[in-house]
Amino acid sequence: MKVLIVFATYSQGTRLASEIIKDTLEKDGHDVTMQNIFDVDASGNFYLNKEHLLQEIARNDVIIFGSCTWFENKKEGQPHSGFLALVEHAKEIPFQKKRFAVFALGDASQYAVHFCGAAGHLEKFVIENGGRLMVPPLRVDRFYFNQEKNTELIRKWAGELSSRVKGQQNLLQM
Ligand SMILES: Cc1cc2nc3c(=O)[nH]c(=O)nc-3n(C[C@H](O)[C@H](O)[C@H](O)COP(=O)(O)O)c2cc1C
Repeated sequence: MKVLIVFATYSQGTRLASEIIKDTLEKDGHDVTMQNIFDVDASGNFYLNKEHLLQEIARNDVIIFGSCTWFENKKEGQPHSGFLALVEHAKEIPFQKKRFAVFALGDASQYAVHFCGAAGHLEKFVIENGGRLMVPPLRVDRFYFNQEKNTELIRKWAGELSSRVKGQQNLLQM
């Protein structure tokens, strides 16, 4: 199946987690594209390239949203600012025609109350707009500190996602 991973990161952990997901899914025969939620313009500024992102979403069957959890809009437990920008364009995303999965990175030792809060926000974003999650959200604690254990956790989650995607292949191609 054609799978798009839209990831958002500040310190690259979510990019690395996305690469693990991509590798796992590709080994299982899926065609996977990774897309940073932000592009960089000629002056080096980050921006949401909405048109490109919407095109990528349109040409894929399964969309994975992955974000770090951060302090945004004066609140802890938020998704990356790129996802907060994308939420404004929810109406332009064909949620009902796609299948989704979401994951977040966070730090339970420092942010126990808001641990991986981005996962809940992304889950809500998908469900409230009529999308369907194929597996429960993945929450990754302190990616860099437990890289081996986290890689295993991420591979397991991606493997479950792959099985669900294969199970629904006929439905998704209708
Ligand atoms: C300013 C700041 C705010 C953060 N807020 C949260 C939070 O509310 N909940 C959480 O679980 N982790 C929080 N974290 C931890 C990051 O989500 C975690 O380090 C994550 O791995 C970063 O992912 P990235 O490397 O993709 O940017 C925060 C980290 C920073 C520096």
